[in-house]
Order: sequence, then C-alpha cells, then structure tokens
Amino acid sequence: MILPVKIYGSEVLRRKALPVEDFDGNLKKLVEDMAETMYKAPGIGLAAPQVGVSKRVFVADISTPDKKDKLYVLVNPEIVEFSEEKDKFEEGCLSIPGIYEDVVRPVAIKVKAQNLEGEDFTLSVEGLLARCFQHEIDHLNGILFVDRVSGFRKKLLKGKLKRNFGIVY
Ligand code: NI
Repeated sequence: MILPVKIYGSEVLRRKALPVEDFDGNLKKLVEDMAETMYKAPGIGLAAPQVGVSKRVFVADISTPDKKDKLYVLVNPEIVEFSEEKDKFEEGCLSIPGIYEDVVRPVAIKVKAQNLEGEDFTLSVEGLLARCFQHEIDHLNGILFVDRVSGFRKKLLKGKLKRNFGIVY
C-alpha cells in the first residue's frame, strides 16, 4: 500500500522517533508499505516519520538501471563509526519536494541495527549508500537535510522554504 508522505512543515518530521520494540506483523507491514512508497515516488530512502510513524526504522535502495543494489531495512540504527574524510553532494528529500542542496557528510560509516526479526547486524558502507543512511538516520532524530546546509546558501534556502511551504521550522 502506498502511504502519503509527510511534507516539510509537518510536526512529525521534527520529532525524535521512538525505538522499535515489537518485531511483529505490524512492523513487517509498515516496512513493506514504506518500500512500496519509496519505489513509487521514486526515492532511494524513506524513514518512518516521513509516513507519519514516529518509529526508528528506514528503508533504502540505491539501485539504478545500470547498477543493481538491494533493499536495506534498518531498525533502530545507530552509527558507531564515521570516516574522517567528508565529501559534498547534492541531496533532496521526498518530504521537501523541489529543494536540492549540497550537503557535506562523512564518506563512510559503520552502522549497527536490527533486522525485521530483531536480530543485530553491523554494516560498513560508503559513498551514496553511506550518505543515504545518514540522511535517513537524521530523519529519525527530527533532522532534515536543509538543517545541514551552511554558509551563504542557508539564507537563500530559508527564503525558498518560506515561499514553497509557508514555514521555516
Ligand atoms: Ni529525506
């Protein structure tokens, strides 16, 4: 089932999401619906708060027609290591349509999470996937990529957010 995506201005996007405690059918259904919603959009990642569910879970898939990856489901993710090296790349967000800005982030991370069965796993990722994971984990903490834009772009961006969404929050 495709779920409606919460848009910039929505309170749930600013809330710190709560840990998932029940690894049950409801969680599986939520993740299934989130994946369907992400693929339909299309997007490369979607966090539960973006569909109005304030829980610590996200889905991601950076596959392109030339390069197949896979669907990642991370429950209660926690970044345990960041690379010192950072890079800058243009990001967008399904919750902030029409806005694209360069964001500086570490190029590689190590993340600890649980799967749909509640089993722990650790992943080391880099490049676009590392960027995507960081963007989605930010969502679980009420942080949006526009918060990470700095310098002279920040002022222009605020004006644009105000015009497009009627709010800056
Ligand atoms: Ni996003």
